[in-house]
Amino acid sequence: MSDMPRDLADALAQDHEDVARRLEGLVAAARADDREALAAAFAQAEEGLLAHMNAEELYVLPAFSVVDAKEAKALRAEHARLREELGRLGLGVELHVVRKEHVDQLVAFVRQHAERERKLMYKWIDTSLPPENLRALVTRLRAAWKARGFAARAKSA
Ligand SMILES: [Fe+2]
Ligand SMILES: [Fe+2]
Repeated sequence: MSDMPRDLADALAQDHEDVARRLEGLVAAARADDREALAAAFAQAEEGLLAHMNAEELYVLPAFSVVDAKEAKALRAEHARLREELGRLGLGVELHVVRKEHVDQLVAFVRQHAERERKLMYKWIDTSLPPENLRALVTRLRAAWKARGFAARAKSA
């Protein structure tokens, strides 16, 4: 397992922060009336968040729910809410009505979700995620980061 990252939890946390920052970029693009930048920022944030949540749902949450069903269920519910909010924001981007309060709420929610995961699930990932899941998770995340131009992170994590 020498190619496995030592700081996967850090990489996952960075991923959340990247999504949050890209979402924040939406407000500036909307204010500048830059539709191209707005659509691009949203697409990157959406892609990043969906890839991240899909990977967690596929490779982490099923095993984590065996040790903490309640927390796993709550995290899944938060993912569902994040997808919903993302969809609503996407509609706003299409119609070019992006409200700062809505973006701020979503950014706050992403950060709060990140903090919740960091406290329990990410700690568990570092110590107890089965190796085959860890391998699959890393492969998936690396592909997603590479696709989004994070070559350095794909290499280091
Ligand atoms: Fe999550
Ligand atoms: Fe996460």
